[in-house]
Amino acid sequence: MPTASSTKWSSLICILVFFSAISTSYAATMAPRFKEAPKFDNSPNCSDHVVHIAMALDVTYLRGSMAAILSVLQHSSCPENVFFHFVSAASQPSSASVLHLTIYTSFPYLKFQIYPFHDLTVAGLISSSIRTALDCPLNYARNYLPSLLPPSVRKVVYLDSDLVLVDDIAQLAATPMSSDQVLAAPEYCNANFTTYFTPTFWSNPSLSLTFAGRRKPCYFNTGVMVIDLERWRAGDYTRKIEEWMELQKRMRIYELGSLPPFLLVFAGNIAPVDHRWNQHGLGGDNFRGLCRDLHPGPVSLLHWSGKGKPWVRLDANRPCPLDALWAPYDLQETPFALDA
Ligand SMILES: *[C@@H]1O[C@H](CO)[C@@H](O)[C@H](O)[C@H]1NC(C)=O
Ligand SMILES: *[C@@H]1O[C@H](CO)[C@@H](O)[C@H](O)[C@H]1NC(C)=O
Repeated sequence: MPTASSTKWSSLICILVFFSAISTSYAATMAPRFKEAPKFDNSPNCSDHVVHIAMALDVTYLRGSMAAILSVLQHSSCPENVFFHFVSAASQPSSASVLHLTIYTSFPYLKFQIYPFHDLTVAGLISSSIRTALDCPLNYARNYLPSLLPPSVRKVVYLDSDLVLVDDIAQLAATPMSSDQVLAAPEYCNANFTTYFTPTFWSNPSLSLTFAGRRKPCYFNTGVMVIDLERWRAGDYTRKIEEWMELQKRMRIYELGSLPPFLLVFAGNIAPVDHRWNQHGLGGDNFRGLCRDLHPGPVSLLHWSGKGKPWVRLDANRPCPLDALWAPYDLQETPFALDA
C-alpha cells in the first residue's frame, strides 16, 4: 500500500511527464513544417554534367532557402543533375540535423550535402557594420566555399536564401570566364563605387591603389555569383579577403559587412553576367521599408535583398506587389490549420 508521500511523488512525476509531453508537442506544432515538393525529372537530352550550387542554411532563413531550392529545380531542364552544397553553423549541431531532416522530407530526391561552418573561423575578423544582420558569421561562409567543398567540385553557383529563379540555372553556371577570372556576377557600373569605401580608404594611396591596373571597378552583389573554385584555391583568395577584414578591424575602410572585401579583391576583374540573373533590391528600402520595382529588362532571378523579406511581409498581410512572385515557391504548411 503506497504511503502518502510516495503517492505525492508519483503524482508529481506524472505532472512533470504531462508537462514535458505538452511542451514537446507544443514545440512540434510550432516548428515550421514544409510540404513535400514534387519530383522533377531530367529531360531526355540531359548529359551527366553536374551543376553545383552552394547556399548558407540556417533556421531563420529556412523558408527562403526551401523556396529557392524549389525554384531552381522547377526551372532546370536537368534537375536531377543539380547538387546542393549547404553550409550551416557548426555552433548549433542540433539545428544541422533539423535542417537535414527538413530538406530530406521536402526534397526526398535531392542530391545534397551539409557542411558545418565554424563561427570561430571569422568571429575575430568581423567588425560591426551599420546593419547588424550582415554581421552574422554564416554571412561570411561564402568566403570559405573553396575549402569547405570537396576539391572535386571545381565550379559552384553561390545563391543567397532570399531569392527565386525563374530560369534554368545551368545557363548561369555556364557563364564564360577568361583564364584570369575567378568570379562571374552582374556588375552595376552606374552605382557610385566611391561610396562603398570610407574617405580614410580613398585618401590613403597605398590602399586606394589596389584598384589601379584593373578595368573600371564596379559594384556587384555577392548574393549571386559563379565561382571558379580551382582558381580561387590556386590564388588563395580567402586569405586576401581575410587580410582586408583584418585591416578593417584596425582602421575603418568601409561600412557594410561582407561585401566590401569582395569588391576590394575582385571588382574590375570579374566576368560579366546579364542583369536578368540578379534583379536585386526587392526587399525594399533599408531605412523606410518602401517597396521596390523590378529593374528594366528580362528576369531570370528575383532577389529580395534589403531588409524586407517576402515571407515576413506576406505573414503580416502587408506584402509588396512583387512578393506575389515569391509566394508560389513557398513550401511552408499553413501554421494555423488546427485553429480552423
Ligand atoms: C534540352 O532541350 C530543351 C528543350 O528543347 C532545351 O531548352 C535545353 O536547353 C536542352 N538541354 C540540354 C542540356 O541540351
Ligand atoms: C560619388 O560619391 C562621392 C563621395 O560621396 C562624390 O564625391 C562623387 O562626386 C560621386 N560621384 C558621382 C559621379 O556622383
